[in-house]
Amino acid sequence: GKVRAPTHIISTISDDRGEEPCYAGVPMSSIVEKGFGVGDVISLLWFKRSLPRYCTQFIEICIMLCADHGPCVSGAHNTIVTARAGKDLVSSLVSGLLTIGPRFGGAIDDAARYFKDAHDRGLTPYEFVENMKKKGIRVPGIGHRIKNRDNKDKRVELLQKFARTHFPSVKYMEYAVQVEAYTLTKANNLVLNVDGAIGSLFLDLLAGSGMFTKQEIDEIVEIGYLNGLFVLARSIGLIGHTFDQKRLKQPLYRHPWEDVLYTK
Ligand code: ACO
Ligand code: LMR
Repeated sequence: GKVRAPTHIISTISDDRGEEPCYAGVPMSSIVEKGFGVGDVISLLWFKRSLPRYCTQFIEICIMLCADHGPCVSGAHNTIVTARAGKDLVSSLVSGLLTIGPRFGGAIDDAARYFKDAHDRGLTPYEFVENMKKKGIRVPGIGHRIKNRDNKDKRVELLQKFARTHFPSVKYMEYAVQVEAYTLTKANNLVLNVDGAIGSLFLDLLAGSGMFTKQEIDEIVEIGYLNGLFVLARSIGLIGHTFDQKRLKQPLYRHPWEDVLYTK
């Protein structure tokens, strides 16, 4: 029979060899003709399947809500400083992106991991939070610098409202809300944050849509797809901040001495 030379790369999400590129087998023309949006493209390229409209709409809402959060947050600050140092768009963008991690914007995957594990093992919020405390791990998806019990994060409320209306089940999100109720007894700022809301609700999306096997859900959570939503979303804002600084012809940034505690 024919002997095929071994390939150096395996790829399963897109194919550019034909007349038109295909995303997960769907040709570009039908993506345009069917009026697909960025949520559909993410479904095809990340999850290798077309998801129901409420799922793609949820993905798009996540992207829109996380696109920016003002100039003071870690990512935007880095981007602004970099743009003002005269660097190009890509440098300014990645400088901001590099701040995304366990404390800022990159807690979605861990929130999903820990909420899923605790929920599926039937831990009460008390047991879950206290176990985390014993291990010295902050609960991912809980806590915020400027948001608190009396000044809740509007983004979280909007995501919850959408999911309560459109998702068949929001059991993971309800679990996260119970965790929040417990952490709020400890401190005022230990609210469910936007990372925690997206992490728990994406679990509900994966489990409730009927589009994923249990094994696939475990793989998505284990590999960690969900921080990608924040990275993608926040790139929109970081690019905006770069253009803003350039448009405003802002000079090199230097932090004021008065704002540094020089000490031995
Ligand atoms: N779980 C348990 N306890 C917490 C948590 C948490 N998630 N967050 C704060 N605390 C408690 C701790 O006792 C902490 O003391 P420690 O420093 O000894 O651990 C105490 O509150 C003081 O924390 P603050 O200084 O008030 O918290 P800060 O404002 O510095 O941190 C932050 C805010 C970074 C978001 C924090 O709450 C945290 O690490 N959360 C988990 C990670 C996370 O979800 N990040 C995403 C935030 S949303 C976003 O970035 C888009
Ligand atoms: C954000 O979306 O950037 C914020 O929730 C983080 C912050 O510090 O406000």
